[in-house]
Amino acid sequence: MKNIVFAIFAGILVFVLNSCTSEKPPHEKIYADFNADLDSLIVMNDGFLEKIRSKPGVKTLQEDFLKLRLQFKKTEAFAEYFFPTTVRMINGAPLDEIEDEENAVFEPGGLQVIEELIYTDEPVNQEELVRHARKMQVNVKRIKMLWVDIRITDSHVMDALRLEMFRLISLGISGFDTPASGNALAESAVVLKSFQHYTQAYKDQLPEFAKLDGLTRAAIAFLGQNRDFNAFDRSIFIADYVNPLCRSLHKNQELAAIPFMNGRKLLNGNVATIFDKNAFNPEALLPDSKFNATADRVALGRTLFYDSRISGNGKTNCGSCHQPGKAYADGLKTSKGFDNKFVDRNAPSIMYASLQQALFYDLRAPSLEDQAADVIHNKLEMHGSMDDVAKLVATDESYKRDFKKAYPELDSISPVYIQNALASFVRSLNPFNSPFDKYMRGDKKVLTDDQVKGFNVFMGKAKCGTCHFVPLFNGTVPPDFQRTESEVLGVTVHADWKNPVLDKDPGRGVHDQFPQWKNAFKTSSVRNIAKTAPYMHNGAFATMQEVMEFYNEGGGAGLGLDVPNQTLAAEKLNLTAIEITQVISFMEALTDAPE
Ligand code: HEC
Ligand code: HEC
Repeated sequence: MKNIVFAIFAGILVFVLNSCTSEKPPHEKIYADFNADLDSLIVMNDGFLEKIRSKPGVKTLQEDFLKLRLQFKKTEAFAEYFFPTTVRMINGAPLDEIEDEENAVFEPGGLQVIEELIYTDEPVNQEELVRHARKMQVNVKRIKMLWVDIRITDSHVMDALRLEMFRLISLGISGFDTPASGNALAESAVVLKSFQHYTQAYKDQLPEFAKLDGLTRAAIAFLGQNRDFNAFDRSIFIADYVNPLCRSLHKNQELAAIPFMNGRKLLNGNVATIFDKNAFNPEALLPDSKFNATADRVALGRTLFYDSRISGNGKTNCGSCHQPGKAYADGLKTSKGFDNKFVDRNAPSIMYASLQQALFYDLRAPSLEDQAADVIHNKLEMHGSMDDVAKLVATDESYKRDFKKAYPELDSISPVYIQNALASFVRSLNPFNSPFDKYMRGDKKVLTDDQVKGFNVFMGKAKCGTCHFVPLFNGTVPPDFQRTESEVLGVTVHADWKNPVLDKDPGRGVHDQFPQWKNAFKTSSVRNIAKTAPYMHNGAFATMQEVMEFYNEGGGAGLGLDVPNQTLAAEKLNLTAIEITQVISFMEALTDAPE
């Protein structure tokens, strides 16, 4: 009898325990796990603060710091996904944060600032260190507080995990957020292990979970075998490990019928990898879908683009300075504009220009529509007027017909739609069919050995990938692509490294509003770079070799010029002649095949 009572009691107990654990929906389990990871981060940061106060040697501080970063990395996927603004105060760049609209400057804070404080040849600034560790604690606790009100779904979880994998291959393995510690690859392994832990919650929901888990293990193992930052083969890691993992995650999500998150974002919500042909949607930046492109709008834009009647003297058109054979640049140091006078800047390629949050070297135009009007009105460039162009379109029979086809719903022709047609044409210039793109989609034969090695140097030792972000290779920051960055390189007026002279163009600093922006320029894309010499906003460097030498010297400051706000590290890169050739060879693999 006793036995029976006991058996019944045990049965009930098992049932109760089961319903508390394994039957919890996966997103609830993840909700709780993230909370626990945050708690550990808070505890560790408290410990770190205590350690700092005990004034140990710098080695001990560095060891504890690395552990703290690893714990942060466990929380990164969801912290970044739900609280991007707060995370900028925990693991943001150690540079002032400038909010143009609010005319405000925020002091940077968090792990990267702490890293600068303890990886230095100077004595550790104890007070600053305590202050920043405390500030960081406030922000981690803020996330914990905000988490209480967050309701997550399976779609959120899948989206956050997908973006974390994109963050890993575009930022993580380049050492973007931990430049001094040299610990980027160990951190990448933690990111993958955390991914594995979180996906485990879905093992009963995802039909091909075993495959996903196997791929995750393989990626972790590959990282485990390759811990040398410079020698790490990033091409293989991305193409053979992380991309297949991302494809499996995507397929599993489809099979499990978990809806994809589809907001209006540059990166589409339902792509498997960032290298897919249609991964990006430049129209996501439009204020209204009524401006979306159609074939007729692109065609009208193309005709206008090559029509000199839209300039003030009928002699210049967009194509004069943006020539298709030169990836839509013009091959001149600075462009020749209205009345054959040289303008101040080099004409950039306009391919992929639509995949930026703002345009021009100084990011002054918020949209391609604004940009088109700006150039047409610019006295040095086209010296025309949008009203005149509208009149031309309204009176020319062929334009009248094309406009009606492009905008059948409109009764009259106004400048804004002409700007939209030109912009639609520019937005159509994102072919993504270079050898590099094909390689990342699985065609391994298209890159030479040198190009593969060059990509690794670009992403590793040479640090290029920490500003020219994969896969756009411009300054639009992955994986949410909501921000386009500018940087200060200290670009010189010529490539005479013995007698360097700083270029005078103030760039974003033109209004003297923020000293941080003096000589800052938008990070250009290096896609199709082999076709767009000469280089930089002033066309100062004639060849890619010269560009490489400039970077190898540590930019303007590295050359000994006074550039106090340079954001490019001034240390020499110490690239060998072979490594330089390899990087150049890799950049040549970014040239699109003709469509
Ligand atoms: C006289 C030569 C010239 C003409 C004509 C010209 N451009 Fe440009 N374009 C430039 C230069 C130079 C820049 C860079 C200017 C700057 O950043 O301040 C530029 C920048 C741009 C950009 C921004 C690219 C980026 O990544 O920021 C776009 C887009 C563009 N032009 C499209 C056009 C269109 C469309 C037309 C015709 C309506 C046109 N351009 C006419 C020389 C020209
Ligand atoms: C600190 C950020 C940063 C780093 C690191 C960096 N770049 Fe740049 N890069 C920029 C910016 C900003 C520009 C535009 C500068 C200008 O026009 O004055 C640029 C311009 C270029 C250009 C010329 C683009 C054009 O159309 O004229 C090339 C080529 C280039 N970078 C290649 C590289 C390579 C290769 C590396 C690594 C050795 C590298 N960059 C590292 C920020 C960076």
